[in-house]
Amino acid sequence: MRDFDEHNITAEVIDRYKDTPDPRLKKIMTSLVQHLHDFVRDIEPTEAEWAQAIDYLTRTGKLCTDKRQEFILLSDTLGVSMLVDAINHRFAPGTTESTVLGPFYVQNPPEAAFGADIRGGAKGEPLFMEGTIRSVDGTPVANAIVDVWHSDAEGFYDVQLPELEEPTLRARFHTDAQGRYRFWTIMPRYYPIPYDGTVGEMLKATARHPYRPAHVHFMIIADGHETLVTHVFVSGDQYLDSDAVFAVKNSLIRDFTHEAPGVAPDGKKVDVPWRKLQTDFVLSRAVVKKSAPAA
Ligand code: BEZ
Ligand code: FE
Repeated sequence: MRDFDEHNITAEVIDRYKDTPDPRLKKIMTSLVQHLHDFVRDIEPTEAEWAQAIDYLTRTGKLCTDKRQEFILLSDTLGVSMLVDAINHRFAPGTTESTVLGPFYVQNPPEAAFGADIRGGAKGEPLFMEGTIRSVDGTPVANAIVDVWHSDAEGFYDVQLPELEEPTLRARFHTDAQGRYRFWTIMPRYYPIPYDGTVGEMLKATARHPYRPAHVHFMIIADGHETLVTHVFVSGDQYLDSDAVFAVKNSLIRDFTHEAPGVAPDGKKVDVPWRKLQTDFVLSRAVVKKSAPAA
């Protein structure tokens, strides 16, 4: 067939995928072409706009290194990361909801003992956090890996501060025999996602702000359970309703209580005002993947 026009080209492009051996790939390519063509017909770009779009994506790719992933940030700010998360972690009643991982997770964080202080030299309001990791039936999960990371009191992660010699405000804990985790840190602050690249250009051009409400990230890994990637948000934060990456869920907002100087639950004497959050996390059982029946 020849002489394609703006109405019949889509069907012909889709037809070229008819022999794709992998049915999943065939579905993806068919849907991609259909939606992409519909999008182009909808916006009717000028050739200059089309070239601008290619340039934008090219510059986005060039910003990506092993330390920075501008495409994931673009996915985050377009709400696609949370859409993928929502589809892949449909709410299992009684379990803790998930959210995006974000760019500040570091593989194999430093190991820390139950009750450790992960502040390093960071200054801020002391925060005591503890709780229990449970399975969906309520059983505590012993020896679960609990990775924690969060911003400092000025909204920076350690990886954004080149002057720091050691990881701070991040650690890997293991739950004790009763499934408990416990540590000391400082209160995190709201912060802007990296906005000095093409994602920042998009936010600026569309009058969107780059801020995320204050939160503490958790990744919890336990045998026989789905890995949980989530964060807990500080109630009252001014950005809870306009998170730049759409990751706030009501079930994850917590009251980090204000405490007067005195003795903390771990027996430690604190001589300044401090904050406390006691919060549990509930994991889903691992999904057992069914293998294809033998032929
Ligand atoms: C974060 O919370 O660390 C984050 C998540 C998505 C994009 C940028 C930052
Ligand atoms: Fe974060």
